[in-house]
Amino acid sequence: MQTIVRLADYRPSDYLIDRVDLDVRLHPTETRITATLGLRPNPAGEPGAPLVLDGDELTLVAIALDGQPTGPGAIEVTPRSLTLHQPPQRPFVLEIETQVNPSTNTKLMGLYRSNGVYCTQCEADGFRRITYFLDRPDVMAVFTTRIEGSRAAAPVLLGNGNPVAQGEAGPGRHYAIWHDPHPKPAYLFALVGGRLGRVGSRFTTMEGRDVEIAVYVEPGKEGRADFALDAVARSMAWDERTFGRAYDLDVFNVVAVSDFNMGAMENKGLNIFNDKYVLASPETATDADYANIEAIIAHEYFHNWSGNRVTCRDWFQLCLKEGLTVFRDQEFSSDERSRPVHRIAEVRTLRARQFPEDAGPLAHPVRPQAYREINNFYTATVYEKGAEIVRMLRTLLGPETFRAGMDRYFTTCDGTAATVEDFLAAFAAESGRDLAAFSRWYAQAGTPTVAVSGTYDAAARTYTLTFRQSLPVVATEAAAGAAPQPLAIPIALGLVAPGGGPVAAASERVRDGVFVLDRAEDALVFTGLDAAPVPSLFRGFSAPVKVEHALTRDERLTLLAHDRDAFNRWQAAQSLAMEVLVVRARANAPLAEEAGTEGAGLAAALATFLDGEALADPAFAALVLTLPGEQEIAQAIGAEIDPDAIWRARQTLRVQLGRDLGPRLLALREALVEPEGAPFSPDAASAGRRALRNAALDLVTAADPQAGTALALGQVENAATMTDRLAALATLSLVPGAAREAALARFGETYRGEALVLDKWFALQAMIPEAGTLERVRGLMHHAAFSLGNPNRVRSLIASFSLNNPTQFHRPDGAGYDLTAEVVLALDGKNPQVAARLLTAFNTWRMVEGGRRLHAEAALRRVAQAPGLSPDVSDIVGRSLA
Ligand code: ARG
Ligand code: ZN
Repeated sequence: MQTIVRLADYRPSDYLIDRVDLDVRLHPTETRITATLGLRPNPAGEPGAPLVLDGDELTLVAIALDGQPTGPGAIEVTPRSLTLHQPPQRPFVLEIETQVNPSTNTKLMGLYRSNGVYCTQCEADGFRRITYFLDRPDVMAVFTTRIEGSRAAAPVLLGNGNPVAQGEAGPGRHYAIWHDPHPKPAYLFALVGGRLGRVGSRFTTMEGRDVEIAVYVEPGKEGRADFALDAVARSMAWDERTFGRAYDLDVFNVVAVSDFNMGAMENKGLNIFNDKYVLASPETATDADYANIEAIIAHEYFHNWSGNRVTCRDWFQLCLKEGLTVFRDQEFSSDERSRPVHRIAEVRTLRARQFPEDAGPLAHPVRPQAYREINNFYTATVYEKGAEIVRMLRTLLGPETFRAGMDRYFTTCDGTAATVEDFLAAFAAESGRDLAAFSRWYAQAGTPTVAVSGTYDAAARTYTLTFRQSLPVVATEAAAGAAPQPLAIPIALGLVAPGGGPVAAASERVRDGVFVLDRAEDALVFTGLDAAPVPSLFRGFSAPVKVEHALTRDERLTLLAHDRDAFNRWQAAQSLAMEVLVVRARANAPLAEEAGTEGAGLAAALATFLDGEALADPAFAALVLTLPGEQEIAQAIGAEIDPDAIWRARQTLRVQLGRDLGPRLLALREALVEPEGAPFSPDAASAGRRALRNAALDLVTAADPQAGTALALGQVENAATMTDRLAALATLSLVPGAAREAALARFGETYRGEALVLDKWFALQAMIPEAGTLERVRGLMHHAAFSLGNPNRVRSLIASFSLNNPTQFHRPDGAGYDLTAEVVLALDGKNPQVAARLLTAFNTWRMVEGGRRLHAEAALRRVAQAPGLSPDVSDIVGRSLA
């Protein structure tokens, strides 16, 4: 078991590296790297301490200190470290030559080859797989990189910063030199060498800098890179407009590779992407793909300030760059698309991914206090809950003070490796506020619950809202579950008159529509009310909490119809549905045509809603029609979960909505048809129309599989976009029978050369909620296009099954767990990061009912006992069983 790293043990490095000259001679199996490091003792470190450089699977070829060979016994080398026992106590130069094999690097960390293209991934600790280094984010150096390679195999050679030279390097070889003037930690290092197609444009910054921007992709796919290229320019403009942040180099390059562990990486001036988040055409990408591409391009670009110019002191501060940058990309998408629609999408992901994480054995604070394997902390909690904290800060302080605080943070911390304390200090200084209670959001794990009750006093004409916050006690690696302290929770709220319309009642404790709950219990009194109002609380989901608020059905209907906050209108419909779903699932109700009077009531309310405004905002209407997901229902039930009962409850309600709303849904489908020959646009409005048409198809088919199948078959054949084709295929995939099998086979055949499209096809089949799916998945693992070596394939086929098909992952016979465990073990030797990620599917195992729980535990124990586990998998399995 590897050692635990603790935040409390942080010490500055004993040595610093100011300058790095890298000379990388690319070779498929024997790449040589010469690193010339300009070192000096850190005044803040321990004088005379040995210099211990990090390494990982490295072969040392040569080493020299100040140009001289090191004497016997002066250094000690292992594949994981290089120790210089008595380093000079003045500036000195170490020259280190290492050799690595990029072709056998299946971990996809450090230097590896993807489809023949040389590329790197260094975050969090991959640079030590290239050369021995002080591989920690608070050691920042100016990098100059010379990359040499075969002109035929690697005509394109890219590095960080600006290009400074290029030329011949012997027969058939050439080189390029890149210089990055901005000191950076090693995790932001990158290089690329390969045969790549390019699309490019220019952007002039508000400071007048003329920047060359380019997107590099597999040759022949250039036409699919234009949307990403445009998203880069829009991101640059947005960050100037919104945060006053300009780009700071002469070139900005994005490279798409097909083998990538995560989404993308913000290496300085050279962002490297999973090609799934770059390549798009109407025929191959869905509207969701376009939205993701835009968001991730923006995310990585925004890191140039929130992450690169201001980086993290240590990996415990990961949320400092990730939470903040997710917040920034969410704001970008909200501005470029529809704010309420985007907000709902954000909350759906948070509830489906982060809430379960926070409620399970892998729960951790947004800023963890201890870790064994940092790569396991790139989580929904650090990213998504981290973003919610930043959003709450803006809600607390108001947009102007928030912006001033951001300016202060960027200015005071520019060029440094900062902490969460530095971040909060900027806002405390700007606002004069004490942020102590607020700062607990970073330290306390678990989703808070806020219980609310409202009472109207007719005689006094007052309305009182009582709030009580409670926090789960979460034991983590670092702390045995200390009693949590109250948080500062911003509650955006308003009152709605019973018949609709706003209520002009005041409470001086509500400022700009926000009340701050910062103690365990508090009450808010509104005066001058002639009737009991309907409270609309946590507008826009103003805090990442669970709300316990016993509104009546009529009150929820009032909010759905009249609240001026779109999020809460959607929430009202979700809550109405959730009540029905939870009751049916708890009662283990059979599949039925009707979900009772509550189901009928929901259908009637949705009918009114659709008649009134479906055509005015189709994207919003599609979300209102979408029932809470199975994971979310499971969270609402909380214990002894039976995924089959949840699925049946949801299916019953879908059938009822499809039946009761059927004629309306079909009419909407007609009304929203794109005119023949209309040009494709991936914009939010067009995507919204497609979303509502397809949501309608889905419900209609649930109620009338035969009629729906006919519609869906037609749409699969004639669709003009991948969005429509895939949506119809997804609908078909839920109707067992020959039509489905034929359509699936045809689709697989049509797109056999399109890996990213086949990924959608793998995913869709892996998510079929039927007992036959397990064998289907096993069969598809032998498909020519499937490979355990490619993370996108594993995520599409296996993770879709394990993470997004609750009834089949949690099969009562345990076979879903067994398949997952088997793949985790098969993968672990190749790619531990992806294996560990897959294993998080077991996150909710303690919440499922007893029979399944026993099977899940047995599968986890099998993984735990397997010999030679990676640190990544052993960390996840250890915490899951703890
Ligand atoms: N910083 C990247 C991002 O933008 C994530 C990279 C994480 N990679 C890893 N192997 N842990 O979110
Ligand atoms: Zn990021």
